[in-house]
Order: sequence, then C-alpha cells, then structure tokens
Amino acid sequence: MLTGRTLPKAGTRTNTNPQNYLFHLDNLSVEFGALTALKNVQLTIYPGEILFVTGPSGAGKTTLLSVLGGHMEPTSGKAVLPHMKSSKHFVSTVFQDLRLIQKKSCEENLFMAYDASMYDSKNDFYREMQDLAKLLHVYDHLDRKIDDCNGGLRQKVAMMRALLCKPTALLADEPTSSLDKENSYRLFEVLNHYNHKKGLALVWATHNKELIKQFPGKIAHLDNGRLIYSGHACFI
Ligand SMILES: Nc1ncnc2c1ncn2[C@@H]1O[C@H](COP(=O)(O)OP(=O)(O)OP(=O)(O)O)[C@@H](O)[C@H]1O
Ligand SMILES: [Mg+2]
Repeated sequence: MLTGRTLPKAGTRTNTNPQNYLFHLDNLSVEFGALTALKNVQLTIYPGEILFVTGPSGAGKTTLLSVLGGHMEPTSGKAVLPHMKSSKHFVSTVFQDLRLIQKKSCEENLFMAYDASMYDSKNDFYREMQDLAKLLHVYDHLDRKIDDCNGGLRQKVAMMRALLCKPTALLADEPTSSLDKENSYRLFEVLNHYNHKKGLALVWATHNKELIKQFPGKIAHLDNGRLIYSGHACFI
C-alpha cells in the first residue's frame, strides 16, 4: 500500500518546467533479440500533458508505455522516471489485457484501488467510485462478475480502477478498443475533466483518430520503433 502520497494541485495543467518532468526518455532503444521494438527514442512528458501515442500495429506503442511505467528496462539509452523513486508521483497503468480479477465483481475490482492515505474514509472512496460509475454508465453493473461483463464494460472498470488510485499520470493502452463511439467519448470526457481539475497527465496509445481530433493533446507517432513525429495533433 502507498502511504503519504500528495495529490497534484487542482487546476494545474501542463507544467513544462524542464526540472519538473514526469518521464524523460533519452536516446532509448528496446530490443527483443534481433528485433528492435524502440529505436533511439527521445521524449519528455510533463505534468498535466495529454499525449496520444499512435502508430501501426507493431510500431512499439505498448513497449513505450511499458518503459514509461517502469515495467521494462531499455536495452540502451536512459529512462528517467521520477515516479519510481518519489512518493510525489504515482502512475496508474491500464494494460491492453486490463488485468482485472475475473471471478470478482466490478465493485470488488474497484475496491482494489482503495488507499487509506488518499481518502478521508472508505465512504469518501465509495462516493467517488459511485459518481464515476454513474458518469460512465457502470452503476447498474457493479455487482456483476468480470467473467460476465462484455469487453467495453471491462475496459471502463479498468479505467475507473486506475483513476480511483488518484494518479498523477495515467498510462492507457488502447483503452477504447471495445467501446463504441459514444462510450469512448464519454470516457474521454471524464479523463479530460481529471486533466483540467486535478492536473492528471494522460498517455494514451490509440488507433482512434476521431477521438484525437475531438480532444486537445499532443501526438507521439511511432513507426517501426522510431518516434517520427512528436508535437501537436495538427497533421491528423
Ligand atoms: N516480449 C516480447 N518479445 C519479443 N518481441 C516483442 C515483445 N513485445 C513486443 N515485441 C515485438 O516488438 C514490436 C513492438 O511491439 P508492441 O507490442 O510494442 O507494438 P504495438 O504498437 O503496441 O502494436 P499493437 O498496435 O498491435 O498493440 C513488435 O514487433 C512485437 O512483435
Ligand atoms: Mg500494443
């Protein structure tokens, strides 16, 4: 359990003070045997940024998120990840396979996010969970076992669990692949709200160009492991 974490200040959006980054990748490469998944990637992400990671299948999006989350070591180059050392930052990850407990209910899975140091009480946590569940249309399904949920509902529960950890940054790997357009937008509206009100940084691997067009953010576009574009989403 994490203790004594401090929350980002409400209303703080992007803070690009060079000393204050959340993630910094310096000439970073990841190889799996003869295969190069990431090649000489240079990337800095600051508090409050929204970054869409795009690129074709196999381009290296999941590998990039794994490195940012501290789940994978680079083969060469450097990953500077202040969240690995400091209680000031906490990074939640929603993996492509969601990592929910199948035999437990949605609500039981959500309660795994409860951290007594981050909430005044269990009731406080419960209220926030219910509010999120209502916003995302999960409320009527809280008792349902994950085994009995469709892919879209599972993705929403995984995102809710990540948000209820009150992270400073959320890494999400294709979290809308099973959601229809309406539910994808609803989910992103909620994330946008967390970004505006709580300074949440968001790194979102996606193929969903429509979503990127609708919301403000930057793009890191990967092709064959190389970061070929990093900047505003104007070229889409
Ligand atoms: N653990 C691993 N062992 C060997 N090769 C791997 C491993 N993980 C990824 N790769 C390879 O690295 C490359 C990048 O994979 P990655 O999963 O990061 O791509 P991606 O952009 O997330 O693809 P997708 O859009 O299909 O999810 C691919 O060629 C993949 O086959
Ligand atoms: Mg992937």
